[in-house]
Amino acid sequence: MVKNILCIGAGYVGGPTMAVIADQCHDINVTVVDINSSRIAAWNSDELPVFEPGLHDVVMRRRGKNLFYSTDIPAAIKRADLIFVSVNTPTKTFGEGAGRAADLQYLEKTARSIIEHADSDKIIVEKSTLPIRTAQALARVLSSNEKGIRFQILSNPEFLAEGTAIDDLEHPDRVLIGGLDTPEARAAMEELISVYAHWVPREKIITTSLWSSELSKLVANAFLAQRISSVNSISALCERTGANIDEVAYAVGRDSRIGPKFLKAGIGFGGSCFKKDILNLVYLCDYYGIPEVARYWEQVVAINDFQAARFVRTMLGAMFNTIADKKIAVFGFAFKSDTSDTREAPAITVCTRLLNEQAHIAIHDPKALENAKADLAGAPADRIAYCTDPYEAADGAHALVFLTDWKCFRELDFKRIYKSMRHPAFLFDGRNFLDHESLYALGYHVYPIGRPAMSHFEQKD
Ligand SMILES: NC(=O)c1ccc[n+]([C@@H]2O[C@H](COP(=O)([O-])OP(=O)(O)OC[C@H]3O[C@@H](n4cnc5c(N)ncnc54)[C@H](O)[C@@H]3O)[C@@H](O)[C@H]2O)c1
Repeated sequence: MVKNILCIGAGYVGGPTMAVIADQCHDINVTVVDINSSRIAAWNSDELPVFEPGLHDVVMRRRGKNLFYSTDIPAAIKRADLIFVSVNTPTKTFGEGAGRAADLQYLEKTARSIIEHADSDKIIVEKSTLPIRTAQALARVLSSNEKGIRFQILSNPEFLAEGTAIDDLEHPDRVLIGGLDTPEARAAMEELISVYAHWVPREKIITTSLWSSELSKLVANAFLAQRISSVNSISALCERTGANIDEVAYAVGRDSRIGPKFLKAGIGFGGSCFKKDILNLVYLCDYYGIPEVARYWEQVVAINDFQAARFVRTMLGAMFNTIADKKIAVFGFAFKSDTSDTREAPAITVCTRLLNEQAHIAIHDPKALENAKADLAGAPADRIAYCTDPYEAADGAHALVFLTDWKCFRELDFKRIYKSMRHPAFLFDGRNFLDHESLYALGYHVYPIGRPAMSHFEQKD
């Protein structure tokens, strides 16, 4: 019976995932460690390092009871029966496979610190998203220990989506557990199943081989991102032909074989996972000698880049081919709503391009302003303002650009904003989530994605 769980890596996955395990399994002690002591301090404070709806309540319910955030990695390793490894696996920036392969240095360092401090047998669970067959490498590193300790390695990828992480963890579509076909691995899988079985119906817990489990996570993200790039690619055609992408997506999604989800056209996907995981898949396909498959998946990222570039070109074209010295109010910097996470956010690309055009930008986001500051640290500071007040951001602006579909943006007083702006007042909806007709009626020149622009100029011509 698992009594002590440890999670190495207190990030967007490790922190919330372990909080939910502790909340659902009062009979298990859950400790989360990290080499980043300020992150651990934040998990132990009132200002958690990650914003997720519902997270604060879950952490406050269990922290100090059976949920602990700590920097004492050696002691936590010694105590644990089962260790989740949830460290970051970013895209490599150097050497072989740079720009595509996963950087596994944090994973290997974790394995080495487990060997150094462990003094009893343990189950090691890959929670991070990893290239297929990483478990084999991990097993080789771990089995090199000279203490006679035996480690069982399982794969248990995380499918939570930021912004809905707590609900996803409490009510998962499925929990995937991969292991080798040996009696010891099967016993370890049963231990992990017994943890999830505290709250997840047994039929939702899927078991597969190690390699299928590792690969399924990469493929799930690739398929999700592919749907976004597919609909975005068609949005470009809609803009040239007068079709409406929302109508097309709705009609297509009504086919039960296709389904309606993840067919919303927009500025493109962001987040720490989609791009990284597809690039990793591309690298693996090339590595295993199937370049045709690699090129196929590579296009998903290419279309995503195209969509952001095309969006800024639309802005420029609409605003008389110059935005130099014009103020642009940027609404939303997080890569999606209900998160403070800005990793790979389309806003980074768009803002950088706007600054390259010598625009002044005023950024407003309800949760992500601190991350935005860090992301734009290298940009010319005298041309960027960070505004906690949305009306201050819009005051005197030539254009509003919406890059995150925060619900609260729909409730803004657009009449007041229109009055405070320079005219003609442009509005670019990168998420297609605002009421374009009423904005147009207020006087804005409205530019959605994948639909005809609603410009007052044409009527006067
Ligand atoms: N963010 C998501 O939505 C999401 C969803 C599913 C899967 N994943 C995967 O989960 C993994 C973690 O993602 P994340 O978003 O939580 O990353 P993150 O960067 O937020 O957190 C990773 C943490 O690991 C810590 N760490 C690195 N090396 C360490 C070591 N040797 N010892 C202790 N701590 C160490 C880092 O300091 C960091 O705090 C990645 O592989 C990612 O692809 C992420």
